Amino acid sequence: MRIIIEKDYEAMSKQAANIVAGQLSLKPDSVFGLATGSTPQLTYRILAGRYQTDGLDFSRATSFNLDEYVGLDEAAPDSYHYYMAANFFNLINMERSHIHIPNGMAPDLAAECCGYDQAIHQAGAIDLQILGIGNNGHIGFNEPNPSFEATTHVVHLGQETIQANSRFFSNVTKVPRYAISMGIKTIMNARRIILLANGSSKATIVAKALCGAINPEIPASILQLHPDLIVILDQEAAEQLAVQDALMF
Ligand code: F6R
Repeated sequence: MRIIIEKDYEAMSKQAANIVAGQLSLKPDSVFGLATGSTPQLTYRILAGRYQTDGLDFSRATSFNLDEYVGLDEAAPDSYHYYMAANFFNLINMERSHIHIPNGMAPDLAAECCGYDQAIHQAGAIDLQILGIGNNGHIGFNEPNPSFEATTHVVHLGQETIQANSRFFSNVTKVPRYAISMGIKTIMNARRIILLANGSSKATIVAKALCGAINPEIPASILQLHPDLIVILDQEAAEQLAVQDALMF
């Protein structure tokens, strides 16, 4: 695990964008795993800016999003389809046929999950997975005590996640109770993972996930076993880390 501590959210986002851009130059047909939420928003905006000003080329890349709510269609402003279009895909030149997000409206959700893992496999596996971390340690929507063996599946969202994500909805009752999420096994199969976290509200969970025991109660703690994990934090999210050898930029 490499831990990079940046001074603020902007510097954290630039560092993440640099790694994505580097991956694209090394392998233009890279397969990316993408997260939604507040954390990667600026990373996407920086990358979109680089496409627009420097011609950073996504045309041969492929993406698979981590998750989507069950019961929200693509046009719903709170869906992750909508978020990704608005924050990234409408602003870059990735082929629409290369973009994958679980379909939370699929009539057969089990078949949707199974097909999603097959599509990742057929694409040759994820080269670079971007992750955020929930206040309860979730990655994707893998809530505390997931099976570390799970592939893409339907999850029941925990109360803490429903509450945290209600900030994107008009009120908490509108937050869907179920989602489709890549499982821990799907995530761990990525060749490289970047975990991003910013803000003091993430400091406790970041310290538990990275420095505590590997424990299903903190799903992100499994990332300690990943052979190529880069953690990029701002100073606030890093404030409870007891790691002496983290890189400071
Ligand atoms: C989103 C996702 C979640 C978020 C996490 C942090 O696709 O998979 O695990 O990364 O909930 O969310 P933010 O960034 O909003 O704090």
